[in-house]
Amino acid sequence: MVNQVLAHIGNTPFELIAYAADKGILTEAYSPIAHGALLGHDAVSAIAERYGVSVPQLSIRYTLELGLLPLPKTANPAHMKDNAGVDFAISDADMATLRAQRVNDYGEANMFPVYGGKL
Ligand SMILES: NC(=O)c1ccc[n+]([C@@H]2O[C@H](COP(=O)([O-])OP(=O)(O)OC[C@H]3O[C@@H](n4cnc5c(N)ncnc54)[C@H](OP(=O)(O)O)[C@@H]3O)[C@@H](O)[C@H]2O)c1
Repeated sequence: MVNQVLAHIGNTPFELIAYAADKGILTEAYSPIAHGALLGHDAVSAIAERYGVSVPQLSIRYTLELGLLPLPKTANPAHMKDNAGVDFAISDADMATLRAQRVNDYGEANMFPVYGGKL
């Protein structure tokens, strides 16, 4: 069984993920790049730069490190290729830093219930 939820750096429902894992339910992370909101995030960009990867690659890898199934979206073939390059590991220290980030501004997408905290 799979449960699809909003999960990305800065907005990860850790308790729900742990509950689902305990029940044998796979959590699928939609908007793993925060619907694009992570692209200009300073702390995330700095960590991505250290690993020599893009912010989308780091964001997708973060969800994999948490045992999630990422569901990124792109309309750009070059981005799609980039997003598949996630064969690297994020250190425990950097995962702790990423887990502590907070993102709650999705720009124009704030109007949608899924991002506006109404779902
Ligand atoms: N169940 C639900 O309620 C629900 C809600 C929302 C979404 N979803 C699902 O989740 C999927 C993903 O949602 P999302 O669109 O919010 O996803 P996302 O993957 O978090 O963000 C997509 C945005 O990131 C950009 N992007 C992706 N890869 C990039 C790269 N390598 N470099 C630069 N920019 C990049 C895309 O632009 P480009 O196209 O220019 O690359 C797009 O603007 C959707 O297809 C949808 O099916 C489900």
